[in-house]
Amino acid sequence: MSYTPQLRELIKKVEATRADRVKKGNFRRMTMDERDEVLSKFHPDFIEASMRKLTFGVNRGDKIPHELADLIEARSLIEGLKFDLEKIAYDVDVLVVGGGGAGASAALLAQEQGADVLMVTKLRFGDANTVMAQGGIQAADKENDSPAIHYLDVMGGGRFENVPELARALTNDAPIALKWLEDLGVMFDKFPDGTMKSIHGGGTSRKRMHSARDYSGAEIMRTLRDEVRNRGIRVIEFCAVVELLLDSDGKAGGAVLYNMETGEYEVARAKTVILATGGSGRLHYQGFPTTNHYGATGDALVIGYRAGAKMAFMHTIQYHPTGAAYPPQILGLLITEKVRGLGAEPVNIDGEQFVYHLETRDVASAAIIREIKERGKGITTPTGMVGVWLDSPMIDIIHGPGTVEKELPAMVRQFARFNVDIVREPMLIYPCLHYQNGGLLIDENGMTAVENLYVAGEAAGGIHGGNRLMGNSLLDIVVFGRRAGRHAGARAKDIKVKKLSLNHVDAYHKEMEAAGVDTGGRVSPMLLPRYTHRVE
Ligand code: SIN
Repeated sequence: MSYTPQLRELIKKVEATRADRVKKGNFRRMTMDERDEVLSKFHPDFIEASMRKLTFGVNRGDKIPHELADLIEARSLIEGLKFDLEKIAYDVDVLVVGGGGAGASAALLAQEQGADVLMVTKLRFGDANTVMAQGGIQAADKENDSPAIHYLDVMGGGRFENVPELARALTNDAPIALKWLEDLGVMFDKFPDGTMKSIHGGGTSRKRMHSARDYSGAEIMRTLRDEVRNRGIRVIEFCAVVELLLDSDGKAGGAVLYNMETGEYEVARAKTVILATGGSGRLHYQGFPTTNHYGATGDALVIGYRAGAKMAFMHTIQYHPTGAAYPPQILGLLITEKVRGLGAEPVNIDGEQFVYHLETRDVASAAIIREIKERGKGITTPTGMVGVWLDSPMIDIIHGPGTVEKELPAMVRQFARFNVDIVREPMLIYPCLHYQNGGLLIDENGMTAVENLYVAGEAAGGIHGGNRLMGNSLLDIVVFGRRAGRHAGARAKDIKVKKLSLNHVDAYHKEMEAAGVDTGGRVSPMLLPRYTHRVE
């Protein structure tokens, strides 16, 4: 589905202003007051009716989106099933739950401590948001940069709400993480002299975004997955965790596994458990289409909360400003921020730029929604979806012919399938659901308040505060995956797991009943999104 004649007519207005926009240079950045105003009026997180307060559990009184609250206020998927918790199918030092970049990093570092590691993953090893991340990974590795400057950017991007110790760990470890990945074999983009290429992302004050073209996450996952396999770490695919097991001291001691192929339940005993199950984009908060992979259903939040781990920042969801609004076949798919990083500007129906192209994601998304909803300057696509332009042809004008094809080959192919040529024609965009800024609160070693329970990657909360910057997710999966793996692996040596139970699940049900919650028959975790209605 290429652009219609009507859209081609509108593209002429973008072309008419392009040379002038390139010549004028950067659009003015918003002041702090302007940022606050556009966020409070137009960012989806600020819609009061989109959230509700939890009435029980460690986050009692905190607001979270209804879609997540529906899973928290639900009974256990395995309630009523009879388990012999003495029948241990797997007895390991470290159980890693999740087969994305965080899980793989954790498994590798845990094994380096001499631990016997088992990884279980709900889909295939590598089916994760990691592979969907396109634009890059941040690390301060240039002379004009430092972890301290990176730290300030992270805090500013997070509205200064981040847990400082976690932001510090993230940015201090970043150069180490980058080198580790390179040593393992990640093919980062480089100049002929061997130095790493790096560009800006939204909200960065230095060029520290390192990429592998526009499939950075896929390249990182390829490398980590190979390494896990080469080191002989046991991985069980199509195996979900449906509930954690605590021992008689209330410490994490394993999990109930669900074999998605056979439908069987099994018990894994583990001295430490690392949850790396990713985010919750498939809950489609507020009906937004998502960039997330099929398994992103917030499982760690549900089972972790039942076990007593606290959620942090789950009232802040990241809407990526540049989701595809057209063609409809790719609605909501990610258009990497690298497109903005290379200079492409968001432009309205009159060909006017309305926001600095490298504002942070929350502000850029809110500004796009304002341009459409308040100012009426959006472009209506043939399906009725309204978006704005992202002027990709600027990139070759700024950096020279061939740049788009060289730097963004996946984007070029994604649009060429529908006869849209992003080298010459702008893209139509609208914010899409990309990331949960929060998750289960961890300390600097990745441990939650539940002893021996660790969380890494998107499932973890506190690092990014109210809004994550681009490239800090590929970074956090590696930094906190490594930290959690190292700590959990080393700690496992001294742990003796006591008698296992699911008593915490019974207690959770009782607490929910006492709070008068009507679960409406819901059970959780969800495990897979539901896109069909069963006809009874
Ligand atoms: C992107 O390339 O825009 C996504 C990567 C990220 O979320 O950091």
